[in-house]
Amino acid sequence: MHRTLLGFLGLGLAAGPVLGALPEKVTFEDHVLPVFQNACNNCHNPDKKKAGLDLTTYGATMQGSDGGKVVKVGDAASSMLLKCINGTEEPVMPPKGDRLTAEQIALVERWIATRALESMTSKAAALPNSVGVATVTLKRPDGPAPMPVNLKVNEPVLPTPRANALVALAASPWSPLTAVGGQKQVQLYHSDTLELLGVLPFPEGMPTILRFSRNGQLLMAGGGIGAKSGRVAIWNVPTGERVATVGTEVDQVLSADLSPDQSTVALGGPNRLLKLYNTKDGSLKKSIKKHTDWVTAVAYSADGGYVASADRAGGITVWEATSGEEAITLTGHKSAVTALAFLPGLLASASLDGSIVLWDISDGKELKKWAAHAGGAEFVDFTPDGRIVSCGRDRTAKVWNQEGKALLTTAPMGEITLRAVLVGDTVVAGDWTGKVQAYGIADGGKPFGEIAVTPMLASKP
Ligand code: HEC
Repeated sequence: MHRTLLGFLGLGLAAGPVLGALPEKVTFEDHVLPVFQNACNNCHNPDKKKAGLDLTTYGATMQGSDGGKVVKVGDAASSMLLKCINGTEEPVMPPKGDRLTAEQIALVERWIATRALESMTSKAAALPNSVGVATVTLKRPDGPAPMPVNLKVNEPVLPTPRANALVALAASPWSPLTAVGGQKQVQLYHSDTLELLGVLPFPEGMPTILRFSRNGQLLMAGGGIGAKSGRVAIWNVPTGERVATVGTEVDQVLSADLSPDQSTVALGGPNRLLKLYNTKDGSLKKSIKKHTDWVTAVAYSADGGYVASADRAGGITVWEATSGEEAITLTGHKSAVTALAFLPGLLASASLDGSIVLWDISDGKELKKWAAHAGGAEFVDFTPDGRIVSCGRDRTAKVWNQEGKALLTTAPMGEITLRAVLVGDTVVAGDWTGKVQAYGIADGGKPFGEIAVTPMLASKP
């Protein structure tokens, strides 16, 4: 087989640094040190430490210069070392003579990006979370809508012995993008063409909840393994890079949301607690005890001022997001609340009692309540333009206006419809058998395509 291709496949061939075929595992000893020895170390050694920087050993390199660290593990672009060798910042290195080749620069970049390993036997250090703070706005962000760029699509897509009920589905607020949860992964699909655009690994287990950030730049997944562990992961949508992992739960995360400024993840689960985690360092900000049953839904208000949580007994409480103080309790649902969604000043809830309620959160009054899905409503969501999408045990997904008037009812799915989102004029819905289908509003709710979420293993009895 061609050597370059082998390099790509990560078969561990010590391929020379041919651009585009960098070694899968780049280490200091094997790849980076030889570059330094050749081009840097006559000025950066223990005896002649220009700028206080010694590049002859791993320890000294990581220690940095008089000016501080020159390698920011996992973040090549803001590492001084990389900026100096690619010439984006002074002092350009080496100061005289030939610059490093593109291949050598790419090697150093990959070394830093893949957590700056010392040698083939060293394990990657845990990365600090790196979630940027977002400006809170209800308007469409400037610039192109965030879409995945060249993400891996053929990697995990794990075949499973049986299909899983589709419990995690989210639509980007601004891009034709739908995220679908599957066993140990999240798949990103183009909502119009249903083309698979990327696969994001979630080795923590089964995602139970997916949400895009308000600007569509980030995707959050909560989930885990029942009665074992729960985590929330956050990815950068265009690059597919995981930028944060929070939560050290001992049971699956059932509900979660990312605050609009991206500083906080609120999550809940079977332990009945609502927990607020700092996305930057993963620290626990607050643990709130009030719910008397599993916390099944969590949502931040559009401006981030409030966070609402709901439980399996039908209770809903709205909290002041920063203080964690209770703002108001919303009573009315007779059965489990399955989902919450916010518009400015307005909270929508769906319940297994079959109804959808729109609440005025300033006084806790029901503005509107209607029977939405016979047998139980499983999910509700708002679109940025204020339409409502829901689904439930009557096997349909429906689109509503805020008066509770049905604008569309899809053809029934094979089983209970567990999740539905609206992306532009496409409804994407998933059912209890794991089937995910797309329906066009223009077609009056007839299905136009299907997403094959989890390819199944050859049948085993
Ligand atoms: C001819 C000597 C020489 C060579 C060769 C050389 N450097 Fe330098 N390096 C310097 C000097 C001198 C400075 C301080 C320059 C300044 O502060 O303006 C410096 C500064 C730096 C800094 C900035 C440290 C800081 O925090 O300000 C980095 C990073 C660096 N070198 C990396 C390298 C790398 C990587 C190579 C090899 C690719 C290299 N240098 C090759 C002389 C050299």
